[in-house]
Formats: sequence, C-alpha cells, structure tokens
Amino acid sequence: MKRQHLFAANWKMYKTVAESVEYFRQFQQLIHTEADIYIAPPFTAIYSLSELAKETKIKVGAQNMNDAEEGAITGEISARMLVEAGASFVLLGHSERRRLFHEENSLINRKIQLAMQNNLEVLLCIGETHEEKFGGQTQSVIERQLSEALKNIESVARVTIAYEPVWAIGNGHAATPYDAEEVHQFVRKWLENRWTESSQVRILYGGSVNAKNAAEFLKEKNIDGLLVGSASLNPQSFSEIVNLG
Ligand code: PGA
Repeated sequence: MKRQHLFAANWKMYKTVAESVEYFRQFQQLIHTEADIYIAPPFTAIYSLSELAKETKIKVGAQNMNDAEEGAITGEISARMLVEAGASFVLLGHSERRRLFHEENSLINRKIQLAMQNNLEVLLCIGETHEEKFGGQTQSVIERQLSEALKNIESVARVTIAYEPVWAIGNGHAATPYDAEEVHQFVRKWLENRWTESSQVRILYGGSVNAKNAAEFLKEKNIDGLLVGSASLNPQSFSEIVNLG
C-alpha cells in the first residue's frame, strides 16, 4: 500500500505567538508538495496557527496533553482544550517527556486512549537510548514501548509512529537510513501482526534530520516521513525537507 509522506515539525519550547505566525506566513510561500504537513508549536500558538492553517493543507497539533479529562491539576492541559483550540493531532511519548517528566508507557497509553476519544490523531514517539542500543536491546525496548503504549487500542487507523532513537535527537548525529529502516521494518511487522488496518499507519524517522540528510531517509521502503525538531524551526530548512515530498 502506498502511504503519503508525512512531515511533522516539533517546535518544542521555541517561538512566541508572533514568531509562530510570522514563520507560518513565510513557510506557506515556500512549500510545493503533495505530502502531509503537521506542525506542533507550543500550546500558546496552537489557536493562532490553526486559524491560519484552515485554508491550507497544514495540520496543527500539540506536543503533549494530560491523561485526565479535567481536574485540579495545576499547569496541565486537556485533550478537549486542545481540540477546541484547533489541534488535530498530539505528539505523545516524546523522549524528552519520558526523560524529563518521567512519563512511562502506561501513562502514555492512557493519554492515547483519551486523545482518541477526543478525535485527536496520535503521533506516538518511541526509541531506544544509547545504552540500550549498545546493549543490543533496541528491538526489545521498541517492542515494549509499542505493546504497552498501544495496549487495548482498538484501531491504529489514526495513529502515526515516530521512531526517534534517543541518542540521535538534537545532536547532529542522525541514525543511518539503513539502521533506521531496520527498526522501521520491525515496527511494521509488529503492527501487521496485530491490526489489519496497520498498512495505513505511517512510521516516521526522527533525530537530527536536516535538509541535507532527509532525502536519504525517504528512499527507504518503510520510512514514510520525518519528525523534525531543530531543522523545523527555520521555515526555509523545513520547507526544503517537506518539498522532497
Ligand atoms: P531534532 O529533534 O530534529 O532536533 O533531533 C527531533 C525531535 O526531538 O522530535
């Protein structure tokens, strides 16, 4: 099955509302691609960007959400709030959330269930650490993350998986396309054995993707797109990536 490429931007804790809007205006002038484009700005910019994105093919989403519907949880944000602000997807399980905020697979699973109930698409991030890779544990770590995070999920039709090896994030040392493809193949098989609709699920690679190395990843059969951090902060470099389409 042919899957449309998807390019997702994770802006992390960068860009004010004004900066996000300015970026969006520039970016729109630069893109010419059939591919799907998702942007996850900070929460504060979701509403403004989603209003701008209405007339375009770009989808705006969030980088995280809480696993409760609502409640006395100071500083957190709910799925329903995100949807109302214009988010159509949410990134869950990013390695920075796992590491800095101690998010575990069981919590991520609850978030996925709630995101789905609220009609948000899910971009689930998985990936092994440096120690796990060199300990030969990549597949077992990936398998555990998938099986625990996707436990009791009835359909994966609105799920995208992002394989982001932790050791390759934010440091300029991307995985080789060959190594990434090996993990993507493993993920695809794992999904195929469990959900019939999994042939539609896109598996993205993320970790130090830039305008120079992006094309090589897209040549691989099971790499359906890219999740981009640093190189998505500049409209010029992100447009060069998405235009590879
Ligand atoms: P990077 O970040 O492209 O800066 O490595 C990717 C990510 O954390 O999603």
